[in-house]
Amino acid sequence: MDNRPIGVFDSGLGGLTAVQKLMETLPNEDIIYLGDTGRVPYGGRSRETIIKYARQDIAFLTSFDIKAIVIACGTVSTTALGEIEKDYDIPIVGVVRPAVERAVQVTKNKRIGLIGTVASINSGAYDKLILQRLPEAEIFSAACPLLVPLVENGRISRGDIMIETAVSEYLAPIKARKVDTLILGCTHYPLIGDVIGDYMGEGVTLVSPGAETAAYVEQLLKKNDISAEKGRRAAHRYFVTDSIEGFSNAASLFLNQDVRGEVSKVDLNSF
Ligand code: DGL
Repeated sequence: MDNRPIGVFDSGLGGLTAVQKLMETLPNEDIIYLGDTGRVPYGGRSRETIIKYARQDIAFLTSFDIKAIVIACGTVSTTALGEIEKDYDIPIVGVVRPAVERAVQVTKNKRIGLIGTVASINSGAYDKLILQRLPEAEIFSAACPLLVPLVENGRISRGDIMIETAVSEYLAPIKARKVDTLILGCTHYPLIGDVIGDYMGEGVTLVSPGAETAAYVEQLLKKNDISAEKGRRAAHRYFVTDSIEGFSNAASLFLNQDVRGEVSKVDLNSF
C-alpha cells in the first residue's frame, strides 16, 4: 500500500482529460495536478525550452512526496520524456504509448489520422511507435497550432464559429484520406471532442491520450505494488502558474465538481 499522491502535469487544462479518467479508474488515489497556465502553449516552442519547462514542472511536483508522475501533455511526452525520464527515480508515464496502443487496436483499415502540436508532429514520436506496432499502417498527420489557445480561451462549444472553422481547416486533408481512427495527440483536444467528432463523422474513432493513460497508470501501480488503500477518500489538489480563477471555473465545469477551493498558484522560477 502506498497512499502518496500521483503527480500529473500539463501546460494548461488539457491534462484534466487524464485526471478525469484517473479519478474514475483510481478513486482512492490522491492527485496533485500542475497546469503551467502562465506559459501555455508549449507546443510551438523549441525542444530545449520544452525540456526546461518539463524539468521545472517535475521539480515542483517532486517537492511533494509523490510516488509517480503522469506527463498528461502530448508535447512533453513526444519531445522531452525520452531525454529526462532517466533522471528521476520514480516511475514516469507519458501519453504517447497508451494512445498508440489504442489506435492500433481499433483501426480496421489501418489508416490512422494524427493531430497534435507543432512540436509533437515534428518529433515523429507517434508515427514511429505506430509503425513499430503496425508496420502496414498509413498515417496522415497535421499540426494544429491554433487549437490549444482556442481551448484555453474557452472556445470549445459546438456552434462556436472560431473552433469549428479551425477544426475543419486542420482536419479536411485528414478526413479526405478516409482514416477510421484519429489520435487526438494533444491532451487539450478531447475538450473539443464533440466538434472534432461532428466534423470527422460517425465512422471515425477518436483516441484520447489522457484517458488511455489512466489504464496504464493503474497497471503501473499494481506492478510496483504502490496502489493506495482501497476505500480511502482521495484528495485532489491543483496548482497553476497564472490566474486561479479562470482555471478553477474551467476545471470545475470540465470535471463536473467544484474544485475552486483546491486551486493554488505557484511560481516555477524557483524550481
Ligand atoms: N496539452 C498539451 C499537449 O498535449 C498542450 C500543448 C501546448 O501547450 O501547446 O500537447
